[in-house]
Amino acid sequence: MRTLVWTWVMCVAAVSGAATKGRPNVVLFLADDLGIGDLGCYGNTTIKTPNLDRLASEGVRLTHHLAASSMCTPSRAALLTGRYPMRYGLEEGPGELPIPVIVHVTSTVGLPAAEVTIASALAAANYTTGLVGKWHLGMNCTLFGRSCPGPLNHGFQSFYGIPVTLYQETRGPHAFWKFPMDDLRFQGLAVAWVAAMVSLLVAARKKVFSRCTCVLLLLATEVVLGLVWFIFAHHSQTSDCVWGVSPWLMRQVNSRLMRGDQAVEAPIQLDGLSQRLVDESRSFLQAHAHDEEPFFLMHAFGHVHTPMFSAPHRAGKSKHGRYGDNVEEMDESVGRVLNTLGELGLEDNTVVYFTSDQGGHLEAVEDTGERIGGYNGRFKGGKRQGGSEGGVRVPGIFRWPGHIPRGVTLDTPTSLMDLMPTLLSMAGLPRLQYLVPRAASTELDGEDISELLLKGTKGKTPRLFLHHCGTSLHAVRMDTGDHIYKMHLARAKWLAGTTQCGWSHSQACDCLGENVIDMSSQPELYDLLSNPYEDNPPISPKSAEYRSVVSQLQEYVRQWRARVTLPPSQLTTLDNILLKLHYLPSCLTC
Ligand SMILES: *[C@@H]1O[C@H](CO)[C@@H](O)[C@H](O)[C@H]1NC(C)=O
Ligand SMILES: *[C@@H]1O[C@H](CO)[C@@H](O)[C@H](O)[C@H]1NC(C)=O
Ligand SMILES: *[C@@H]1O[C@H](CO)[C@@H](O)[C@H](O)[C@H]1NC(C)=O
Repeated sequence: MRTLVWTWVMCVAAVSGAATKGRPNVVLFLADDLGIGDLGCYGNTTIKTPNLDRLASEGVRLTHHLAASSMCTPSRAALLTGRYPMRYGLEEGPGELPIPVIVHVTSTVGLPAAEVTIASALAAANYTTGLVGKWHLGMNCTLFGRSCPGPLNHGFQSFYGIPVTLYQETRGPHAFWKFPMDDLRFQGLAVAWVAAMVSLLVAARKKVFSRCTCVLLLLATEVVLGLVWFIFAHHSQTSDCVWGVSPWLMRQVNSRLMRGDQAVEAPIQLDGLSQRLVDESRSFLQAHAHDEEPFFLMHAFGHVHTPMFSAPHRAGKSKHGRYGDNVEEMDESVGRVLNTLGELGLEDNTVVYFTSDQGGHLEAVEDTGERIGGYNGRFKGGKRQGGSEGGVRVPGIFRWPGHIPRGVTLDTPTSLMDLMPTLLSMAGLPRLQYLVPRAASTELDGEDISELLLKGTKGKTPRLFLHHCGTSLHAVRMDTGDHIYKMHLARAKWLAGTTQCGWSHSQACDCLGENVIDMSSQPELYDLLSNPYEDNPPISPKSAEYRSVVSQLQEYVRQWRARVTLPPSQLTTLDNILLKLHYLPSCLTC
């Protein structure tokens, strides 16, 4: 009898292990460059996103959810750490080249080891952690790329996915042999080659050198001129070479799929990639469904970033070309992962969160002219415009059945950086400073919004948000409870009649320099409650409201700057842009 009871107790404990400790599982979906206007549940009537619409109807939909940056690397870093990215140098600073993200898989810059991510925090609370999909926060490869731990250094126990980003160039093939004779440099190279060959021929005829020396000189000339050709063709600044790297070289270096700390596929096969990522997440869920301890799964899509690709059954199905196909394929992927949660009986004990790292890329068009960037609704601006509403206002959906109410819409301003403190609180864990000893003096910029999500209770006001573009402050937002003020200090020079800065997948507005309009001497002030799309004129600088709000915001900025010391940008450096081929992830099976 006693053994029977004991077995029963053990069984119950095993089945409800994680649940009884009150720590829910967490599934975080992160889309790439998805605009807030791209989803049915955010008002799009012509795109089909039934799975995300259902997720929103089963939980809370945030309509004023803000990315901390409008570029991948800084925004993802902020999401994972709960801290502004310039605190650890992951925002572009002033420099020769405008470089807003980690450029190469071989770059030695990245999220510093001292930063604590959600994954490290949850791992400290015994969660099993896994990342499927895109990382883009530095791979930290050892010599000859024998090991590139990347996310494994930051709390993730497993990783399958994309180490940097999917560049438009990831989709090949690209020409290797190039000799454009309209280019002066190549003309010079041709002349040099002919001159070298003729001199060698003459020298050989006149027996100036021995035959052996002649052959060696011939070889040496070919090698040197070949190297010069390679640099001209693939590794110098021309119009089709993003950051001085040709499409061919970009794909050779950066199109690598990783498992753990090893590359397993190069170049990445884009066809079916979304489905393989989903299969990986499903395997993760199946493997850990019945564990004693809860899990944290981050599924970071390659979609809907360029290049556009989709499985045959999705291609040409949407009403919005290849971009629309990508949004719908991403939605299908969300659905397949959610269905797996359901099949495994994990729905009730899993917090699901969906968001995008930044707004849609307005400039992105294919060479054919087809638009392949997202739609930011009526909000102005987009990706790379850190102070513009379209650059940072993103979808945000939370579901936790039985805890978070169903079908609720909240318009309180919130941040992607809120995720860290909010998850710890919902899981009943101590604050980060107590959970992870090395974070004892870490200051978070995100706030715990669990009371808002669970009960609709608003947090302390005023709440302020800084909106940097690179390290340059472009806007400040303040939620006072009665107003949501937004003060613009700078913005990009838009093309007439648009809120964008060009028409190409490799273009976007600048954050610093002459293409930026400096408004700091007389900032523009809007109240987003009465003027949500900033379509009507800003608040008059002559009004008492303007003077009082602007001086309050300026004082806040002054105090923040006095209190927070910022390291130099890691991104605007040679370490980021140089191709360090000795750090290229080696791939024995590729
Ligand atoms: C829906 O999304 C597509 C793709 O981004 C966009 O072109 C279209 O304008 C959106 N439609 C509506 C009604 O929001
Ligand atoms: C990179 O790895 C080295 C050890 O190989 C470690 O000391 C360093 O902290 C790591 N850097 C990051 C950013 O993870
Ligand atoms: C994690 O596991 C350790 C060792 O089993 C235990 O002491 C600790 O209390 C656990 N932490 C949590 C948050 O459950």
